[in-house]
Amino acid sequence: MPAELSPIDKAKFVAAKRAVAYVESGMKLGLGTGSTAAWMVRCLAERVQNEGLKVVGVPTSTRTAELARSLGIQVVSLDEAKWLDLTIDGADEIDPQLNLIKGGGAALLQEKIVATASDRMIVIADAAKEVAQLGAFPLPVEVIPFGWQTTKALIEETLVSLDVLNREATLRMNGDKPLVTDEANYIIDLHLKRIGNPRQLALVLNQIPGVVENGLFIDICDVVVIGHGDGRVQLRDINDGSAREDRVEFAPTDNIFADPDA
Ligand code: A5P
Repeated sequence: MPAELSPIDKAKFVAAKRAVAYVESGMKLGLGTGSTAAWMVRCLAERVQNEGLKVVGVPTSTRTAELARSLGIQVVSLDEAKWLDLTIDGADEIDPQLNLIKGGGAALLQEKIVATASDRMIVIADAAKEVAQLGAFPLPVEVIPFGWQTTKALIEETLVSLDVLNREATLRMNGDKPLVTDEANYIIDLHLKRIGNPRQLALVLNQIPGVVENGLFIDICDVVVIGHGDGRVQLRDINDGSAREDRVEFAPTDNIFADPDA
């Protein structure tokens, strides 16, 4: 393992590498977004190059599409692929039921569409993403720009009757302008601190006019792969209840270690 990788990058890398071992030739794959998913795209590209693995990938953001293409992975749209065998993506928080908060990278809308259109979703993460209860990480809500302040006020009003610890909502910025998603929407981050009933919150948020989607992924993730800096990976499958530990070996010459921030 190259010495320059931080323990957190090592953890993300081993989770990604282990998850990519689930991929079989002929599969149609959802490709997630974020720093952990970027490792997954690199590990997948390595298998495509070294083993001649035949896969097509549906990216969940323009940046993942660019990375995948640049590494020689065939990229198609979801409409071309129609249905996917497997999606591998990162997460911001993972609870014991494998419910998730996603969208720290503002790609939650495409991520949720793609994961939902897949037979299986594998989530890859470092151990810091595991939580007993969701909500410490701000919950992203994608809203259309038209009337966003009204939508934000409606969200805040709705939160009053829900089981959350805090109700602050903020518009996500990119410098001095609102951040604009791949779908030309805005993101409102909900600083809830604790989400008592994620399933109810996910349903209620999506009923507010102006809300396009929220970052709660309920009953979508099938398997979680948690990586550790020492090469250990812990795997949990929510469907069969299994849990096991593996180890990922490193090849110091792996060219995927170049430019890990892509
Ligand atoms: C992107 O919108 C997110 O859902 C990411 O998957 C999530 O934020 C995890 O990102 P990292 O792997 O960079 O922590």
